[in-house]
Amino acid sequence: MTSQYDDIGAKYNVFKHLPTSIVETQNVKDAVLPYLAKTEKPRALDLACGTGYYSHKLLEWGAGYVFGVDLSNSMVEVARQTISEQQKQEGVLRFETGNALTLGKIPDEEPFDIATGVWLLNYSTSLDDMTKMFKSISANLKDGGVFVGVTPHPTDDVTAFAEMTNEVQRKQPSRWGVTVNYYEQLESGEGWRTEVIGHGEPRVSFKNFHLKKSIYEAGAKAGGMNGKVTWTEIKLPQEAVDKTGTDFWDMYFTNGPHMGVIVVEK
Ligand SMILES: C[S@@+](CC[C@H](N)C(=O)[O-])C[C@H]1O[C@@H](n2cnc3c(N)ncnc32)[C@H](O)[C@@H]1O
Repeated sequence: MTSQYDDIGAKYNVFKHLPTSIVETQNVKDAVLPYLAKTEKPRALDLACGTGYYSHKLLEWGAGYVFGVDLSNSMVEVARQTISEQQKQEGVLRFETGNALTLGKIPDEEPFDIATGVWLLNYSTSLDDMTKMFKSISANLKDGGVFVGVTPHPTDDVTAFAEMTNEVQRKQPSRWGVTVNYYEQLESGEGWRTEVIGHGEPRVSFKNFHLKKSIYEAGAKAGGMNGKVTWTEIKLPQEAVDKTGTDFWDMYFTNGPHMGVIVVEK
C-alpha cells in the first residue's frame, strides 16, 4: 500500500515535541483510561497507529494486547522496530498494514474492547468515507466496546474556524510550531481540505480533511456504532503550562482547541 506517509516514516516523531502534543496525549489518556479499566487485560486496536506512539501508550495505560494498523508501509516498519524483545516474547504488540476504509473484520483477531484512531478520521473525505471507517471500527469491536478518536476541532462551522486559523497563522506564523493551512473548501460543503506543515527539522507536511462535527456523528451511526457519542472537554495539563507558561494557551482556548476527542460506544 502506498501513502503520502511513506516518505515520512520516523520523521513524523518531530510532531511529538510540540507543546500541543502534551495536551493531546493527556486528553487521549483521560478518555481511554475509564474504558481500559473496565476489563482485565483489555484488547486494543490502534487504527492509524503511525510510528506506534499511542500503541505503546495503550499498553502503558493498561491494555493487555495492542494491534496497530496503518495505511503506510513505512510507518508500520518504523512501528515494528519499536517492539522490545520482552514485548515480542509476550506477544503483546503487533503492527500490520491496513486501510481503515476497507479493513472489515480482521480475520485472525478476536473482537477488541477498545479501538483508537488518533488522527485517523481526518483522512475521511466525506460522510461516505466516514461511514466506511466506522464500519471497520464497529466490525472489530465487541458489543459494548468503544472507539476513541482524535479529530480536528469539532464544529459545524468549519469555514469560520478555517478563516480564524488562517488569520491567526498569518499574524503569528511561528506560534504553534506547526501550520494548518485551510486551503480549499470541499464542493460538498462537508468541510475543508487542509495541509499540515511542521516547522521543525526534518520538514514534514501532509494533507487531510477537516469535516463538520455532524459528519463524524452521522458516520458513526451509519457505520453501526449505535451507543452514546461524546466529545470530551479538552483540558490543559499542568505539564503543558510548565513547559510554556499560561499566557501561551490563552488564545488556544479562546479560539477553540485545534483538536477534539470523540468517544463512541458500540
Ligand atoms: C498524523 S499520523 C498519526 C499517527 C499516530 N496515530 C499518532 O498520533 O502518532 C496519521 C496516520 O494515519 C495513517 N492513515 C491515513 N489514512 C489511513 C487509513 N485510511 N487507514 C489507516 N491509516 C491511515 C497515516 O498513514 C498516518 O500514519
